[in-house]
Amino acid sequence: MFVDRVLSGMRPTGMLHLGHYQGVLKNWVRLQHEHECLFFVADWHALTTHYDDVAVIEQNVWDMVIDWIAAGVDPSRAAMFIQSQVPEHAELHLLLSMMTPLGWLERVPTYKDQQEKLTEKDLSTYGFLGYPLLQSADILIYRANHVPVGEDQVPHIEFTREIARRFNHLFGKEPGFEQKAEAAIKKLGSKKAKLYEDLRDRYQEQGDDAALEAARALIMESQNIALGDRERLFGYLEGGGKVILPEPQALLTEASKMPGLDGNKMSKSYNNTIAMRDDADTVTKKIRTMPTDPARVRRTDPGDPAKCPVWQFHLVYSDDGRRNWVTEGCKSAGIGCLECKQPIIDAVLAEQGPMRERAEPYLEDPTLVRNIVADGCERARDLARETMRDVRESMGLGYT
Ligand code: TRP
Ligand code: SF4
Repeated sequence: MFVDRVLSGMRPTGMLHLGHYQGVLKNWVRLQHEHECLFFVADWHALTTHYDDVAVIEQNVWDMVIDWIAAGVDPSRAAMFIQSQVPEHAELHLLLSMMTPLGWLERVPTYKDQQEKLTEKDLSTYGFLGYPLLQSADILIYRANHVPVGEDQVPHIEFTREIARRFNHLFGKEPGFEQKAEAAIKKLGSKKAKLYEDLRDRYQEQGDDAALEAARALIMESQNIALGDRERLFGYLEGGGKVILPEPQALLTEASKMPGLDGNKMSKSYNNTIAMRDDADTVTKKIRTMPTDPARVRRTDPGDPAKCPVWQFHLVYSDDGRRNWVTEGCKSAGIGCLECKQPIIDAVLAEQGPMRERAEPYLEDPTLVRNIVADGCERARDLARETMRDVRESMGLGYT
């Protein structure tokens, strides 16, 4: 009943690097050929942790959108927009907040993790606690069914599914559904009926997943009820009836194997990145000065690729033939490290060529990016308005 739609967002962290390209953007580029795609800049999400550093946001947003385009995200296939330019996200976030148990938010693993990690910042804020709910609003407002994300974001998608279920339960009931479900409960027999109702309350009032599981098991093991009643009982547990906000699925993006210049994962916070749009001289210099196996002090000292960050790059950029050449040459001191690095330099520059080409017109004329984002925002707003009409109406705020 809903179209096949992909949505994903990224916080505006500024210039993206090859880790973003290999891990996330290549995937987006592929998806845009297979589904309707919406990609947005989560600038409000950036504020949840960087509310004290707002000067950089705008430039980061434009740089990031140019990098998306540089990677091959095609404005004629995918809408690109900015979260804060579609205020309906905030309205849905507010309405969802009315029915979101605090315990659900406190239990999201990123909440405690991030608070512990970012100790230099006070993250005991209302906004930060609401981070996953804002993300739910981002997704549900487009009724998106696929959300490409990395492993760390999967709990947020799970959370979103629970929010959708709860919303549909509270506001998606069709006329007569409740009475029919109540009648079905009676057919369980008084003992089981009582248990079902207790478990249902526990799940709906406290978000107790174990209670939901137990209630489902109870329904499964009740032999003598009709199929229709069984479906009602399942639906009634979580809120059957009309689906106003469909549950999204996480499309798990495989963790990028992209190493950083020092062998750790490529990340801005490790200062070991190659930016997607670093110029050729910078790339050459960064790779030529990469550390190698410390055993290779002199050109004649043999080394071991397993102890060398450059080898990680060969795993991304080289075929078997070249990898053999590296392994043999390194272990026998038959090749020098600069020689070994040259094909990596060539491969990275070759990968970046089309990126630079695609970015160029947008760097020359910034109004082109503004226009693409304006179009994307308009498309997003149309979809968001439609959802909000249904949401308001189902929550008693139709006022027609
Ligand atoms: N939380 C995501 C991240 O840090 C960014 C994000 C915000 C997002 N809203 C979203 C991702 C909606 C997917 C869908 O990576
Ligand atoms: Fe690393 Fe290559 Fe030098 Fe071996 S030859 S240490 S793999 S850069």
